[in-house]
Amino acid sequence: MRSNFLVFGQPLIEQDEIDEFMDSVRKSWLGTGEKVARFEHDFAVYKKVDHAAAVNSCTAALHLSCLALGIKPGDEIITTAMTFCATVNAIIHAGAIPVLADIDAASLNIDSIEIEKKITAKTRAIIVVHFAGRPCNMDSIMEIAKKYKLYVIEDCAHAIESAYHDKPTGTIGDIGCFSFYSTKNITTGEGGMVISNNKNLISKIKTLALHGLSQDAWSRFSDSGYKHYYVVEAGFKYNMMDLQASFGIHQLERIEKYWSIRKKIWDTYTSRFKDLPVTLPSPDENNIKNAYHLYTLRIDKTKCGITRDEFLNKMQSLNIGCGVHYLAIPQHPYYKRTFNYNETDYPNAVKYGMETVSIPISPKLTEDDIQDVIIAVKKTLTKTDE
Ligand SMILES: Cc1ncc(COP(=O)(O)O)c(C=O)c1O
Repeated sequence: MRSNFLVFGQPLIEQDEIDEFMDSVRKSWLGTGEKVARFEHDFAVYKKVDHAAAVNSCTAALHLSCLALGIKPGDEIITTAMTFCATVNAIIHAGAIPVLADIDAASLNIDSIEIEKKITAKTRAIIVVHFAGRPCNMDSIMEIAKKYKLYVIEDCAHAIESAYHDKPTGTIGDIGCFSFYSTKNITTGEGGMVISNNKNLISKIKTLALHGLSQDAWSRFSDSGYKHYYVVEAGFKYNMMDLQASFGIHQLERIEKYWSIRKKIWDTYTSRFKDLPVTLPSPDENNIKNAYHLYTLRIDKTKCGITRDEFLNKMQSLNIGCGVHYLAIPQHPYYKRTFNYNETDYPNAVKYGMETVSIPISPKLTEDDIQDVIIAVKKTLTKTDE
């Protein structure tokens, strides 16, 4: 058994970001500045999109996207029953009502047939989540959006590198939101980005992200002379700092290298676990790029002989940290009592939420770490050593 605990989702931090961070520290320009502008530019180039706005989280990105699209109190937004709470909270904080649709049992993504069933006269938008990095079925979702004149926001927190039919995720709907939280495919510690080909949307988001000040207010203290700023909206404090962008700029340079490392780990797990009594992630659909953000095992007691929670405890005792992504939204007390969600209406999401466990898949893993994970999974599921 390994002697130290393997923390789930540890990022790989390299010397370039440490040097860039220290450069900002030495220059004493810590807040929003030129490095944020550079990160926005580089990210837009990477995603092949015209405009990008950096913010301090994907939660902020989703909230501002709803506001920039003109979502009003009482509007309904349809989203998936299997996502992190942030997707739903952003809808609520925009004053709208989150209406949940169940997932497709194989892809774990929102089921477009379920979306169509949930549309009412109050529906204004759909927030799709490209779950675990696997793109949603965007052809049918965009068709529904067109038919009912709905906006589409893509929650790409798991899906920075993903593409659907050669289109980068986040550029297919009206607006795309990304996370650079510590466990994500690239990190700025905390951080997020909004992208769109619609200049007005990104311009509104930039204003709302910094108190509602007229744009470029961040440069009011620069050496080009003091500039007055004006409050043009009641905005938020959602701006990204140069300290965070110092990480983002260099993490982004390595994004495809990290993707290849995770793909190799993914393929290794798939081949080493194929004979175990456990359900592995579905194979990739044709003509998509999966960001391979989460490697999830489904622990069904009838198949595996143990419950998911027993599996988690056993892995923990073997010094392997795992994650749960996620309990389904209708399982949480706040959403249940506020929106009267009934778990039986979302059978696929609730079943998945009870069975899923994510095992480590970070570019920081050493060969020994990967072997330790494999041995622990095998030991837990077959009660034997390899
Ligand atoms: C699907 C999804 N959406 C949104 C978020 C929120 O991201 P952030 O922590 O950057 O606000 C997360 C974070 O884990 C997520 O997994």
